[in-house]
Amino acid sequence: MTRLGILISGRGSNMLALAEAVGDGRIPETEIAIVISDKQNAAGLERARQLGLATEVVERHGRSREDHDRETVDALKNHRVDFVCLAGYMRVLSAYFLESFRDSILNIHPSLLPAFPGLNAQLQAIEHGVKWTGCTVHFVDETLDGGPIIAQRTVAVLDDDSEESLSARILEQEHQLYPEAVAFVVTGKYELAGRRVLSKP
Ligand code: GRF
Repeated sequence: MTRLGILISGRGSNMLALAEAVGDGRIPETEIAIVISDKQNAAGLERARQLGLATEVVERHGRSREDHDRETVDALKNHRVDFVCLAGYMRVLSAYFLESFRDSILNIHPSLLPAFPGLNAQLQAIEHGVKWTGCTVHFVDETLDGGPIIAQRTVAVLDDDSEESLSARILEQEHQLYPEAVAFVVTGKYELAGRRVLSKP
């Protein structure tokens, strides 16, 4: 069994999408070992508990990034995690964290990267005037939302879109894309060629 650790900071809808896909076998031979939040009050924590998932809070307040990451990495290792999925985790990872799970950390971002990295990606897309945006699952490296791209989905930007309406349509796609991308990775059907994530024949 492949063991996933999911890191959240907020509502946790992508975490739930992953849990559903693990439950119904779309992500095969995999279990969720632990859901960790860096915020005590993350709504996703309660939703994870309701599903019977193990949860932990590793509070970030008042400590250095490295110190916080050491505790998070310890918790992931204690639960024998193979892959880490960031799902609305609002924290940049330290070099220590990245080295601890090299090429085994995934993130989902609500734009077609490399366009609009960072915060408020949906609003950035509207303000830039692009006609298409979407979502991206990528491996996490030391850059901000810049690691090798695993999978993407497109979403049209409509003339009357608000940040909320566009975010909602992208989120629907995120909930399909993230499980597909995790399934692709945990089944080992890929190889990394520099920045490119290629399907194995
Ligand atoms: C999603 O839009 C995700 O792409 C971004 O943060 C948001 C998290 O939402 N990284 P949720 O907590 O999974 O509902």
